[in-house]
Amino acid sequence: MSNTNEKYVFGRSKMESQRLDAQHSLLVKATQNTLVHPSIPKENVISVADIATGTGVWLRDTAKLLGKVNTTQRYYHGFDISPDQFPDDMGDIEFSVHDITAPFPKEHWNRYDLVHVRLLVAAIDEVEYKAAVANIHQILKPGGFLQWEEIDEVTYKLENNTVFEEIWRCFDSSFKAEGKCFQASAKVLEECMAAGYSNVERLAYSSDWDNNLRPDTEARFVAIIETLYASLLLRSGQVDDELAASKQAGELIKKYQQLCGNGNSPPVKLMRVVAQKQTA
Ligand SMILES: C[S@@+](CC[C@H](N)C(=O)[O-])C[C@H]1O[C@@H](n2cnc3c(N)ncnc32)[C@H](O)[C@@H]1O
Repeated sequence: MSNTNEKYVFGRSKMESQRLDAQHSLLVKATQNTLVHPSIPKENVISVADIATGTGVWLRDTAKLLGKVNTTQRYYHGFDISPDQFPDDMGDIEFSVHDITAPFPKEHWNRYDLVHVRLLVAAIDEVEYKAAVANIHQILKPGGFLQWEEIDEVTYKLENNTVFEEIWRCFDSSFKAEGKCFQASAKVLEECMAAGYSNVERLAYSSDWDNNLRPDTEARFVAIIETLYASLLLRSGQVDDELAASKQAGELIKKYQQLCGNGNSPPVKLMRVVAQKQTA
């Protein structure tokens, strides 16, 4: 389990990296394979940044999707507050350690046509979204796009599902106690509008468009209960120690699997905010 003193809730072990990569495949399929949102003109995307990149899996797939522009290589840069999950073989992708809540070095200003961010809900404070959105604005070229994706409270807001009601209760109270924001995508939308981005939209994608995604979705929720749910129980003092957290998480997983067995298998929802920096 992760260190309860660290602001970031997840660990960064090899196993966690594998989980991130598996989750990436599911999320891309959930969005009907729209790695880059269809309103973003791919032919104009020459330089791409992924912030809070983790293992860089989104960047690697995006590089494959976009290929070359005529014969010119596109530019890809991954940033993360920690280098622990950066890949050993970085290929043509640059990686740097950087905290999204701090301004980027000047060499990155006005550099990117597309900036991608995914899954910071358990990492940054509610008051830090404003700085994050402003820092991204600074590194986007005029006319460049932000695509920010989160699994947040929308996924867990399900009536008549006692397991999701319990997850929602635990996440909401623990995030509030830590100053984080469970309504992450709504917060990103609000800060993008306040920062003067144009064409700001918030969209919801759901894995239930394809029944074949059910086993991966169920495995993902088991992983979320094992990791995030158990960590938050402990961090917020709802249980006394790791053993008690694992036990409570294990019981919830059993209940969740029973519900799934009875045909009540909730989809994962990915919230996506797309926004454009105004042209000069
Ligand atoms: C749940 S992982 C998501 C990784 C990746 N975006 C993905 O979707 O596969 C969250 C990542 O955010 C990074 N992170 C946490 N706080 C950050 C911050 N303030 N600035 C930049 N990265 C941060 C963590 O180190 C971790 O790699």
